[in-house]
Amino acid sequence: LFASVEMTPGDPILGLTEAFVADSRPGKVNLGVGIYYDETGRIPMLRAVRQVEEALARESWPRGYLPIDGLPAYTQATQKLVFGPDSPLLAAGRVATSQTVGGSGALRVGADLLKKALPKAKVAISRPSWENHRVVFTAAGFEVVEYGYYDPATHGLDFHGMLADLGTLEPGTVVLLHACCHNPTGVDLTVEQWKQVVALVKERNLLPFIDMAYQGFDKGTDEDAAAVRLFAESGIDSFVVANSYSKSFSLYGERVGALSIVGATREETLRVQSLVKRTIRSIYSSPSTHGGALVAGVLNSAELRTLWEHELADMRERIHAMRAGMVEKLAAHGAPQFDFIQRQAGMFSYSGLSKEQVDRLREEHAIYAIGTGRICVAALNRNNLDTVVAAVAAVIR
Ligand code: LMR
Repeated sequence: LFASVEMTPGDPILGLTEAFVADSRPGKVNLGVGIYYDETGRIPMLRAVRQVEEALARESWPRGYLPIDGLPAYTQATQKLVFGPDSPLLAAGRVATSQTVGGSGALRVGADLLKKALPKAKVAISRPSWENHRVVFTAAGFEVVEYGYYDPATHGLDFHGMLADLGTLEPGTVVLLHACCHNPTGVDLTVEQWKQVVALVKERNLLPFIDMAYQGFDKGTDEDAAAVRLFAESGIDSFVVANSYSKSFSLYGERVGALSIVGATREETLRVQSLVKRTIRSIYSSPSTHGGALVAGVLNSAELRTLWEHELADMRERIHAMRAGMVEKLAAHGAPQFDFIQRQAGMFSYSGLSKEQVDRLREEHAIYAIGTGRICVAALNRNNLDTVVAAVAAVIR
């Protein structure tokens, strides 16, 4: 029956982790997947999360089905975190938020919804973008095009190219934007640049779909949501936000994300939400309880929320320190050209390493990175930094 099924290439990110796990060399380092590891090389269990987990275990919280769009305590807290607690959009009832199976689930539910609402639209993603963006939107039936974003010459933003390409998109095109900590490049827009993008998107009547997977991983939860807040203030009728707590709560496997749809009016938002619920019901029925309860428990307690903000700040400060350490040590190895790593934001850096250099890192040094040269700087620590830097210095020679 399946004789005609051909072998599908492995996923460039999660497939690499499979190879890493199978590698028996001691001292191997995985800079491939976007996961934050602490100084001891472990995925942290945040103290704020543990407190909720312990309370849930004590209460033996019943695990009935959640509503199709998730735990209300979770979706309401998410809206405040994403849009700001005093957002006029929230007061006007113009935001409908659903708990989803991770940020990827939010993207896919959003994509399926948009395919129903705007069947002829195209989707524009940045060049480059997260490897899975094209996969998700293509799977939902969209034609995916690209807009300029990254300038390999400067390792920074090609802002002119970005504006020029956005300016040629047909009205109604869905534009996928990374709110902060751009994946894979680590190159972000300034607030001033965001203002220009928002104005252009509004003028051209494009539909912004903002992917915010790293809120709090660069500057702080409000600062990193600047793009969302600017779109909210812009007077644009409709936009979409997918957000994830995988990184910010260190809850990768709990698949905690959310999809927020902004409609032109309260009534329109209710209609769109009814279609979101139908869409979710047709895929996985309703989200799971545990991860949502953990996030809701933290965000809805003033004390735990403060503790979480501190723990999040610790994670981002450690990433900044690792970026600085890598740049300094590479310079000491005679490679000062990597100073851009310190200007990039979030978990990732587009290192500029070629596919061949990445292959040598893996084969000769047991250091795993994505073939595009993307490295996860959040996997560096004081124990593996010297090894990684020495290996990079060796492969660029
Ligand atoms: C990544 O880009 O490494 C993460 O977002 C994990 C994933 O699902 O690809």
